[in-house]
Amino acid sequence: MKKTTVDFKQMKENHKPIVMVTAYDAPAASLSEAAGVDTILVGDSLGMVVLGYDSTVPVSMEDMIHHTKAVKRGARSTFIVTDMPFMSYHVSKMDTMINARRIIQESGADAVKLEGNGEVFDYTAALVKAGVPVVSHLGLTPQTVGVSGGYKVKGKTAEEQKQLVEDAGRAEKAGACMLVLECVPEEAAKRIQETVTIPVIGIGAGRFTDGQVLVYHDIVGYYGGHKPKFVKQYTDIQAPVQKAIEEYANEVRSHKFPQEGHVFSPLEKTEGLYGG
Ligand code: KIV
Ligand code: NA
Repeated sequence: MKKTTVDFKQMKENHKPIVMVTAYDAPAASLSEAAGVDTILVGDSLGMVVLGYDSTVPVSMEDMIHHTKAVKRGARSTFIVTDMPFMSYHVSKMDTMINARRIIQESGADAVKLEGNGEVFDYTAALVKAGVPVVSHLGLTPQTVGVSGGYKVKGKTAEEQKQLVEDAGRAEKAGACMLVLECVPEEAAKRIQETVTIPVIGIGAGRFTDGQVLVYHDIVGYYGGHKPKFVKQYTDIQAPVQKAIEEYANEVRSHKFPQEGHVFSPLEKTEGLYGG
């Protein structure tokens, strides 16, 4: 059965780790659901991992809606969180509400995720009041990389840690149902985990958060880009995939594929070839 925000809160209370996977399409979502993950994030890391951009900044509302629809079709019984993309929740409260409505209603996401603090918490409160579950994202916030000048660990200084703890409290007060914490020292993440009653999902945030999130492509080794320290790759599918394509190419070139078993005769019933 699909979990709810209440289930996630209970999991925190019962010290049951929450498993989140970032996925962007139906097959990855379907495999994640079959593997029994608790929740799927349609992250805007989409931009780098499958769309070939070099940051999350170019990702659009249309991209997020398109991919959330695909994930939804692949995993109908899993709680789906969708990232609100760059600048889709900063122009005004009204613009934020309209964009969140689109993500929830048009794509079928169960919650939206918003990076950052300050005014974002006011918008979070407005969304929650309107009935939209919101996940907050603090620590390293990739959408602001242009301003911060790089992907850096946040909360290294006492001052930054204090700010993080305060912001986590504000996220909770605004009504966020979960908090994603990216790239913060383990001690800071632990303090935050202890301070708030909402589940804290970590990525590069150490061992003491209420759950973890990793990107599907990082778990299975299907992404040739930068591999940060916090990633654990459980298998490597790049090499066998490339090998399979090379074999296919060789067989086409040497007339080994297709063979008799792959071809149609005039008497063949050709309807419903794709699962009809
Ligand atoms: O976009 C994403 O995949 C994310 C996670 C890394 C938290 O935001
Ligand atoms: Na993201």
